[in-house]
Amino acid sequence: MPDQGPQRTESIAASTAGDFAAEVAAGLTKPQKELPSKYLYDEVGSALFEVICALPEYGLARAGERLLRRHAGDIVAQLSQPVAVAELGSGTGKSTRWLLEALARRQPVTYYPIDISRAALARCERELSQIDSVSLVGFERAYLDGLLEVAARRREGEHLLVLFLGSTIGNFDRPAGEEFLRAVRRILQPGDALLLATDLEKPMPQLILAYDDPLGVTAAFNLNLLARVNRELEADFNLARFRHQARWDARARRLEMHLVSLAEQSVTLRKLGLTVGFREGETIWTESCHKYNLEEVFQMAARAGYHCRAQWVDSEWPFAQSLYVAV
Ligand code: AVJ
Repeated sequence: MPDQGPQRTESIAASTAGDFAAEVAAGLTKPQKELPSKYLYDEVGSALFEVICALPEYGLARAGERLLRRHAGDIVAQLSQPVAVAELGSGTGKSTRWLLEALARRQPVTYYPIDISRAALARCERELSQIDSVSLVGFERAYLDGLLEVAARRREGEHLLVLFLGSTIGNFDRPAGEEFLRAVRRILQPGDALLLATDLEKPMPQLILAYDDPLGVTAAFNLNLLARVNRELEADFNLARFRHQARWDARARRLEMHLVSLAEQSVTLRKLGLTVGFREGETIWTESCHKYNLEEVFQMAARAGYHCRAQWVDSEWPFAQSLYVAV
């Protein structure tokens, strides 16, 4: 039997209200209007995302989870111990559970989920704070800020395993994604590991359905961003005058989510003292989901300061988990 390690759940909060207002103002005054996808996950958005993960058309989440269910043992076997786990984005907890359980079989672990969304962290705590020999310390922070704090708490001789699951890296443009991996690497020490999930390229019709499901859950998820702006910034977006759109950019190899204005209209954000005009057909770009191939994920490791030690690919839905080790 493993030791019953300490059980602790705490949460370190930070206010991000100012960032939200500033980034919304900046995004809506660009020629191609945009809103950062990280703001999709308020209380309502996080709940809708959980439903998305259950949709038959959205195979990503299940593929990532399947890989960890099947291979958590192999993954853990490749890590230098003792190890503390930091997760970038608290996820839905399901995939992470397999890893934490595999690790905790060998020794007590501290698990640090890092997320700017309080709702997402709360969900993760409900899901994962009850595992034997796992202590959970959540950070309500941007990824790199949170990771710096985790690294500062590192104990003598302890390695870090950073989890970047769910293929969140796909939200970055390719160069920005690589730069992000380098920034993570700068916080790590040689021998620390990063488990990176990436959704792989697949036929366009399958991708469009995954991001524009017939039930309209993804549409609601996307439109909720406008509802959130209404709620938090006293804006008057009329949701009936915007339509969800998923499009494939073949050159950039990414799925894009937009909100299309169905009419010429203007919207006022009272808290920002800002009025924004829309032409009919004009869009707000809300998310990019880049799709990768296995080879480029392997090569990206070397360019970002890691060695890609192993990759696992799902057989039903092309999706990869790659284990990077900091060199
Ligand atoms: C959580 C960023 C991985 O890009 O597929 C799901 C978010 N957007 N449906 C993705 C999302 C629309 C998701 N990630």
